Formats: sequence, structure tokens, C-alpha cells
Amino acid sequence: MRNLRDVGDELQLSYAARYSTDGIPKFEVPAGPMPARAAYQLVSDELALDGNPKQNLASFVTTWMEPEADQLAKEVLDKNLVDKDEYPRTEVIHRRVCAMLGSLLNAPADCTPVGTATVGSSEAIMLGLVAHRAAWRKRGGKGTPNIVCSGLVHTCWEKAAVYFDMELRQVPPEPGRYVLDAERVKALVDENTVAVGAILGNTFTGEVDDVAGIDEMLRSLPYEVPIHVDAASGGFVAPFLVPELAWDFRLERVKSINISNHKFGLVYPGMGTVLFRDESDVDDSLVFHITYLGGDAPTFSLNFSQASQGVVLQYYNFLRLGRSGYGEVMAAIDANAKALRAELRNLDAFEMIGEETFMPVIAVALKDGAKRDVFELSARIRETGWIVPAYRLPANAQDVAVLRMVVRESISRDMIDQLIEDLRHALGRASGALEPGQPRRPIC
Ligand SMILES: Cc1ncc(COP(=O)(O)O)c(C=O)c1O
Repeated sequence: MRNLRDVGDELQLSYAARYSTDGIPKFEVPAGPMPARAAYQLVSDELALDGNPKQNLASFVTTWMEPEADQLAKEVLDKNLVDKDEYPRTEVIHRRVCAMLGSLLNAPADCTPVGTATVGSSEAIMLGLVAHRAAWRKRGGKGTPNIVCSGLVHTCWEKAAVYFDMELRQVPPEPGRYVLDAERVKALVDENTVAVGAILGNTFTGEVDDVAGIDEMLRSLPYEVPIHVDAASGGFVAPFLVPELAWDFRLERVKSINISNHKFGLVYPGMGTVLFRDESDVDDSLVFHITYLGGDAPTFSLNFSQASQGVVLQYYNFLRLGRSGYGEVMAAIDANAKALRAELRNLDAFEMIGEETFMPVIAVALKDGAKRDVFELSARIRETGWIVPAYRLPANAQDVAVLRMVVRESISRDMIDQLIEDLRHALGRASGALEPGQPRRPIC
């Protein structure tokens, strides 16, 4: 009898003996090939052991798109965004997406907003800060450049400061005070401040810095300091839920904004954008002209090659949803976030951390005297598949330990009810609200 691994490819079974009984290659490239079906199955099975993205309340990042979007993503898998001369229509779409974002973020009529797609907000923030550093030097800035921002900024701000040799002047949070305001910024800015960072939805509590107040204060200073708004998570939420809130290019000192299209732009991971109020905000020395791919391809990015799927999917969403469609999606997210907040209050075990804002982000601490701590609770509900991170807030609020939940489009009301039920069990409380026939999970 022939060994299964010696027969033709069409007869190779996914779990053909050798491939599922031997260990799989892990650290050395294997000496020879294996059938595609077996390789697929081995990798797919490995990935099946990951957490379930649908139950991931830790992440802001999109985990579901329509089948038509999936189809488009497949169609552009082989196109490198940097090859502008080879794929001119993809580049046109890239520019349209940046233009649409510029108008969504209220760029004034007398400005020419410019932008570029990035891998995510981290790259976008680094590009924004590098551009502000170049502008500061051009204004005659000398010495060590600094950035003033909240102690609740995302790690990428710290990376930017280290990678590009700038001083990060952070305003530390205090228990109960997590929002950056004009007064605390004023104490730290000086002529060497290349930009003030303001966050539209911080990663830790979801709260929103006082961008308008900071703008007003900066306009009263005798020297020029621009604002970079980190709208990674809030940039697609605010325009639809609180359009009257002025935080974007309506404010004079807001010169650049980053946004994670792969968060509430509702696009799969791998897409962010940095936008500048006007083309004069990006010094020519930062734009490189690539000619060896054919034509003249100006690039402003940290990386060279980049997947096209992000810009294509963002364009799809703009066409598919329009402003009113985005408004409906955000309203649904908001309704579910409010429902989750209310259910968490009903559990009477948690204290809400931070002000309630329009952001669908909920951070809670356990009330005093609770038998469990948030880390234990996070581990317990992981047993039922839910990914809800527990962490301590940064210095000086490190005594505050929270669980944080991000409500995304794909977190339905039904899922929220189940999460609450599982949290109740993890807290050691019976609910009595089970559906007929539903087994009661053991309470330990
Ligand atoms: C406020 C904020 N800024 C920046 C980032 C980094 O974004 P990205 O993951 O798109 O690089 C995040 C990520 O969650 C964030 O919440």
C-alpha cells in the first residue's frame, strides 16, 4: 500500500497521517514541500487557538466587514500601495480617501489639506510629530525639542519621543482627573515645544482632552505652538455623534490629526491616516521622490511598501455608508455602549472610572470591599471566551486598577447580555435569569 504522503495532491487529505501526527516545523524551514491542503489546515488549526475576535472587548480594531469588502480586500492583496505608477487607480483612491477625511475633519476652505495613509495611528503620530519638529526648526527652534501631552497617551507617543530624540513632557493623571486641560499644558509649554498632543478618546479611560481650551490658551502665547490631535479612536465617532464639538481643523492651532481607519473607520487592521491642515505644514525636505518605479512618486511615510487593502476598504465604506450610514452605525454603537454601562451599574460591583463621554469606551474599577480584583475577574471571564483587559492606570494614578471594554460595531446587544451574565457568574453571583434549558455555569 502506498503511503498517503506519496499519493497525488488531489488525494492528499487535510489530516493525512504524517501531517497531523508529527510535530509541525517550528524553528527550521522544512527540507521539502507538503500538500497545500495540509499546510493550510495546519496553519488554520494553529490560528483557531487564538482568542475569538468577536469576543474581544480589549481592542478598538475592526473585526467584521461586509462580504463585498472581503471580496475587494482579496482583489487587492497583490497591490503594493507604494507602486503609484504601476497602480495609478489605487493611488487615486488613496488621494480621494485623504480628501474625504480632510473635509470630514472640517479643513477650512482657504487651506489645502494633505495626508497620507499609514499602517495605523502609531506611524501617523510619528509622521505628524516629525513634521512639527521640522517646522519648529524652520521657525528657528534650537536646543532640545519637546512635546507636551497627557500621561495617558498611547505608547506610540513615547516611541516617537525616543526614536526622534524629543523630550516628552507629560502631565501625569491623578485619580479622578484624566483629561488634559489648558492650565496644565500652559505650565509645561515653551518656545521649544514642537507640538501639544491632545487625545480624542484616550486609550485608558476613553475620555477626551479639552482641545478647544488648549487651542485658546496657545493662541494667547507670544510664540507659535501647534496642536496634533490623536483622534485614533474618536476621529470617526465625534463627527457623527457630537458634530457640534469643535476639536478638529475648525480650531486654528490644530495643524495635524491622526485617525485609525481600522478602528471606528470600520476597516480591517492595517490602516491609519495622518492629515495636515495645509500643505505648508509639511516641509518639502520630508517628502521623498521615488523615480525608480517609473514616474515621480512622492512619499511621506516611515515604511516604503504597504498593503493597499486599507485605502480600498476605507473608500468602499465611504461609498457604501455615506455620512448618514456612518451616523447610523455610530448611533447603534452608542446605544449598545450605554446599555453595557447601565448593566454594569446594575451589577452594583463596579465604580465607573472617568467621565462618561460620547466614546464607546467603558473603564470600571471594583468597588471597595470586593472579594475579587480586576485581574482575577479578567482571567475568569476569559474562561468563557471574553477578552476584557485589566490594567493599572499610569503614574500617578497607578493605584487605580480597571477593566476596560470597547464597544465596536460587531458587539451586539445580545452579546452584551451574555457578557453581563458571565461577569455576574465570575463575580460569584447567581442570576436566576437563564433561558429555559440553559445550563447554569458552576459558580466558584
Ligand atoms: C489614543 C490612541 N492613539 C494611538 C493608538 C495607536 O494606534 P494604532 O494601533 O492604529 O497604531 C491607539 C491604539 O489603540 C490609541 O488608542
